[in-house]
Amino acid sequence: MKIAVLKEGADGERRVAATPETVKKFIQLGAELAVEAGAGTDASIADQAYRDAGAAVVDRATALAGADIILGVQGPDPASLAGVKPGAWLAAGLNPFGERARVDAYAAAGIEALAMEFMPRITRAQSMDILSSQSNLSGYKAVLDAAGEYGRAFPMMMTAAGTVSAAKVFVMGVGVAGLQAIATARRLGAQVSATDVRSATKEQILSLGAKPIFVENVAGIEGEGSGGYATEMSAEYQAAQAELVSAHIAKQDIVITTALIPGRPAPRLISDAQVATMRAGSVIVDLAVEQGGNVEGAVPGEVVVRHGVKIVGHRNVPSRLAADASALFSRNLFNFLSAFWDKEQGRPVLDEEIGDAVRLTRDGKVVNARLLQ
Ligand code: NAI
Repeated sequence: MKIAVLKEGADGERRVAATPETVKKFIQLGAELAVEAGAGTDASIADQAYRDAGAAVVDRATALAGADIILGVQGPDPASLAGVKPGAWLAAGLNPFGERARVDAYAAAGIEALAMEFMPRITRAQSMDILSSQSNLSGYKAVLDAAGEYGRAFPMMMTAAGTVSAAKVFVMGVGVAGLQAIATARRLGAQVSATDVRSATKEQILSLGAKPIFVENVAGIEGEGSGGYATEMSAEYQAAQAELVSAHIAKQDIVITTALIPGRPAPRLISDAQVATMRAGSVIVDLAVEQGGNVEGAVPGEVVVRHGVKIVGHRNVPSRLAADASALFSRNLFNFLSAFWDKEQGRPVLDEEIGDAVRLTRDGKVVNARLLQ
């Protein structure tokens, strides 16, 4: 059983899909590890650290030759996988809806592509969930990015020269990233409020010491919705939400938006006219910018200024914390593959519930129900 770890090829991607820690653990399971030279450099992991952990550090072609499982953070360019043996697994964040042509190319190459972001949200798969581990770091980093762009302080300070008032931070979308953003902003001393369409988040907001801002007169999503995710809201709800947000947003210094709907463009939560009501020097961080953006005017990869307000649209925020993001991502991959390790066969054998959820391609065909709908 040979596992190959690739150097990421996507622009700006600094993470790596295995660390010396997970390399050691895979070797303990009986696997042989081949790491592409330089794979960990941007995540502060030297080639020698992989060698010390027991991996061979080699060029890409040597890593891929005879590999049974290929690990990646993002899906590699199919053209760079030439020579991979048919039936090899590719386990990575494959962005199946956004990169459909790649998925087809993996199928054509006979690769069994496993999309880690399709991991079902069930208790036993929590430790395998890359969306949670990476979103958590994004939520934290979004607040630090906002603090870095903000020309004022977060906490209230009483000084001999006078009082600095606390920043008001509003978090829109209270999933994994939003909860971490609330906690981080609170730790920095901000006054924090938050909103979501799922009513279940109200308690979570309160428990973190923040103020819930909710549409009260139109039904939101009770409980967790399907798999914990939101769905698109009615026009009536959207109108009520826009009105509520308009009144609130004009009084905020920092807004962090994180709202996503799986398989759909991100919901538009803030219009240009609403941005214009914020005071000059305010900062908005749009974590959904790569999925279409929650904020009108947000540009992927840029910090733009509209009406004196900075709109931050960094791409790939987890990659901005590459060392921690890689450590967690790598453990997600190890937890996934090791949970299904069949000692007799010396390789993982997936069960139906998780296997069918994450498997995109097999035997030359696209087989995933969510892609075939
Ligand atoms: P997400 O990244 O898909 O979306 C972020 C947030 O945006 C969600 O809370 C969603 O309700 C909210 N949102 C969507 N449309 C909105 C709108 N129009 N206005 C305001 N907010 C909007 O969600 P994420 O972070 O992946 O987690 C969602 C839930 O799933 C979490 O509450 C978590 O408890 C649950 N979960 C369960 C797991 C498990 O059991 N294995 C693992 C991870 C999360």
